[in-house]
Amino acid sequence: MHDTNFLIENNAKHVWHPMAHPGEMREHPPHIIEHGEGVEVVDIHGHRLLDGVGGLWNVNLGYSCEPVKAAMIAQLHKLPYYNAFRGTTNSPLIELSYELCQFFRPEGMARAFLTSGGSDSVETCLRLARQYHRANGQPERTKFFSLKKGYHGTHFGGASVNGNANFRRNYEPMLGGVHHLPAPFTYRNQFETDDGAVIARKIAAIFEEEIAFQGADTIAALIMEPVLGSGGVIVPHETFFPLMREICDRHGILLIADEVITGFGRAGSESGSRLWGIKPDMMSTAKGISNGYFPLGAAMISEKIAVVIESAKGATGTISHGYTYSGHPIGAATALATIAEVKRQNIAANAATLGVQLLAGLERLKQKYEVVGDARGKGLMAALELVSDRTKKTPADKAVVQALYDRAYDSGVIVRTSGNNVIISPCLAIGSEHVNRILSALDLGLAAATEALNR
Ligand SMILES: Cc1ncc(COP(=O)(O)O)c(C=O)c1O
Repeated sequence: MHDTNFLIENNAKHVWHPMAHPGEMREHPPHIIEHGEGVEVVDIHGHRLLDGVGGLWNVNLGYSCEPVKAAMIAQLHKLPYYNAFRGTTNSPLIELSYELCQFFRPEGMARAFLTSGGSDSVETCLRLARQYHRANGQPERTKFFSLKKGYHGTHFGGASVNGNANFRRNYEPMLGGVHHLPAPFTYRNQFETDDGAVIARKIAAIFEEEIAFQGADTIAALIMEPVLGSGGVIVPHETFFPLMREICDRHGILLIADEVITGFGRAGSESGSRLWGIKPDMMSTAKGISNGYFPLGAAMISEKIAVVIESAKGATGTISHGYTYSGHPIGAATALATIAEVKRQNIAANAATLGVQLLAGLERLKQKYEVVGDARGKGLMAALELVSDRTKKTPADKAVVQALYDRAYDSGVIVRTSGNNVIISPCLAIGSEHVNRILSALDLGLAAATEALNR
């Protein structure tokens, strides 16, 4: 074991961090997080922080969830790994697949395909969408639709449906036959309105027009996040998902709900699809499924898809897709224990209640500080969008956002910044007092951001 000096000396020197410039990481080395306890983490200098990031939207039950840790350790001793490819399986995987289908029964899910994370789950859904149409006698249905500002991970399929140029440009050309619709975003849009219902109808009209242009019989699926997370916590109007579901149904297009963030309670309901009252054809899940303790995801498949693929003969019905770690026994044991705790603690309800308190506090901060252009959120996923000019909605520059981050960190709360957005996604097991701590830290941070802006 190396000492603290070694860690500080070598920080970011021999590793490339995700979504970061290696040079910048070396110049401004990241905080080294050493411990996690309850809903807090402690950095290498002993500085204790309330985790306003929730790991990365995933440590929903906090860092001290003993039943989950115990299940992992027990499984590690019993069977640390065995594959689930044709011919063998393991008991936690059988139990987890049963449990997942029970958990997502209200969404109409009937089968689970286990993966190693969100990007894998998205990729699985995209591939299965094409396989479904092939098995259903419509092999020309290969195109995908998605939303601008959506985020669906970093595999080529997921990156192709991503709606943010940052995640695409260096790796182009992306998959052909992918088309993007405008985001259901009230704060910034092309429609010159902040009326969410109007925006929903306009996007639906664009979708209809594009379906007519492309030919419905060429389109496999529409993939969307129920609440757009990484794109800056964009909460669609309640009519948006039902509208898009109805259009998809009418044209034989599958609807994939990317529930990597919203699955298991984050938006204040067991899933984002349940929140909006729709049944998707497939759901990509990950993050909260294992409380962040094991890299795991699941693509969930509805009865409609399952029936068609399972009744296809030979190669067309074979799932020619899978990962070495699909159905990893420790991952499955982790998820089983996590889901039991998610239900026992009813964390979705807690997220819904505290989300109201959080959003009200963010609205108050918006009243207090000109630098806040927009405050938005659903459940315990929320964002502040910082601007240098409120009327023109000019995005605040990096130094302003960094000033907020640094002051909040110094005051004992860690939040996440992305462009000019400050994203708040704490563990779902927090209490009202934690929400107040986050709001106080943001208050201090916004004062610092305002100073930076006026400098
Ligand atoms: C909605 C959504 N889909 C997919 C992904 C990709 O998941 P992962 O980073 O586990 O591959 C993410 C990650 O944040 C996400 O938010």
